Amino acid sequence: MIGKVIIFGQGYVGLPLALAAARNDFNVIGFDTNFNKVAQLAKGISVIEDVSDKQISDAISSGNYKVTDNPNFAQDVKVICICVPTPLGDDHKPDLSALEQAVTTVGKNLKPDMLVIVESTISPGTTRKVLLPILIKTSGLTEEEFHLAYSPERIDPLNKAWNIKNTPKLVAGLTVQAAKMAKDFYSKFVDQVVICPTVEVAEIAKLLENSYRLVNISFINEISIFCQKIGVDINEVVKAAATKPYGFMPFYPSVGVGGHCIPVDPIYLSEAAKAAGAGSRFIDLADDINQAMPSYFVERANQILGTVTGKKILVIGLSYKPNVADVRESPVISLIEQLRKTGADVFWHDELVKSWNGEQTTPISSDFDLAIITTPHDYLELSALKDVPILNTRSSI
Ligand SMILES: NC(=O)c1ccc[n+]([C@@H]2O[C@H](COP(=O)([O-])OP(=O)(O)OC[C@H]3O[C@@H](n4cnc5c(N)ncnc54)[C@H](O)[C@@H]3O)[C@@H](O)[C@H]2O)c1
Repeated sequence: MIGKVIIFGQGYVGLPLALAAARNDFNVIGFDTNFNKVAQLAKGISVIEDVSDKQISDAISSGNYKVTDNPNFAQDVKVICICVPTPLGDDHKPDLSALEQAVTTVGKNLKPDMLVIVESTISPGTTRKVLLPILIKTSGLTEEEFHLAYSPERIDPLNKAWNIKNTPKLVAGLTVQAAKMAKDFYSKFVDQVVICPTVEVAEIAKLLENSYRLVNISFINEISIFCQKIGVDINEVVKAAATKPYGFMPFYPSVGVGGHCIPVDPIYLSEAAKAAGAGSRFIDLADDINQAMPSYFVERANQILGTVTGKKILVIGLSYKPNVADVRESPVISLIEQLRKTGADVFWHDELVKSWNGEQTTPISSDFDLAIITTPHDYLELSALKDVPILNTRSSI
């Protein structure tokens, strides 16, 4: 055993991190405020698609992984990682409440020489100007007595090619020593760890990566609308363009962006840019285009059916991306709500999500006026639709 690590948040980011550290001889405590999640994990049951039950029970039986909802941690903890949600609030602005609460708990338990690493996605300046003062105030320690680093997570749930080990990891510290300690920690289970010159560089780099995706996805969605109007297959266009070996990266059409990162992180960047008196027109436009995609598909459904009012529609795929059960910020929800507002009788099918909003997944059948393919999970088998017309949001034809 190399040392004791506590990881705040056992979700999409914190759980794979905890297991990777545990597999590499750290003694890991996964702390989460969600009692049900803790109880499930303690029984060896996974809470995310990327991690199997066996991986959890193996980690528990190795003695290197424990999960708890008790926020008091031992004096001999060496590293504390914070992987809690940083969503948008109802006002569509950054909501740091979970992170501030987690950092307050860390501060109350903090002892000299401990290393705190924040992994949650945050606006530039948050580590230095918001989190450091909370740690100082709640711990009673001086800035020099503990170490604070920032290391944005890049995990892409269910990505088979890129994982925690082979995806290069950025780290930055408020001091050179903090950065070095963070690099030493991750280097035990990540192939390449890159030190950024300041925490602000690492904070903005993460926001830049996800804003780049938002902007490009919205660009492809806009071009897809154009291609639909002139009867050209956008996917064939992207495939052709992607034969260029440099200067082009493929993005694909959809009903919009979803999940905990792509619709959220760029807003952190645009809010920060506005606060600094700089513009963020690309992000704002991309956000507008993506938010408008569900209403574009309502219009397409209207065109196919004459009107959606009173028509029975099956929306296929509720989660924000294929093969996950995550419905956070899923644009499919907006599509369903808008279809219902216009008087359509809407059902949805998603065997991964199963239940949402007090509703259950509806089997695929021919008992509908229209099927809208929103999230094409690998398991889907559409032959039961028979002659039901299909509107495919992942294509322009
Ligand atoms: N999901 C991704 O693909 C992804 C990728 C990169 C970065 N991120 C970022 O990582 C952070 C975590 O995201 P996630 O997807 O893992 O979220 P998640 O909701 O899957 O997991 C977060 C966990 O933190 C717990 N939690 C909330 N408040 C807490 C507290 N005060 N103390 C301890 N636990 C607490 C929640 O109960 C939850 O289980 C976010 O900032 C997100 O933007 C997410």
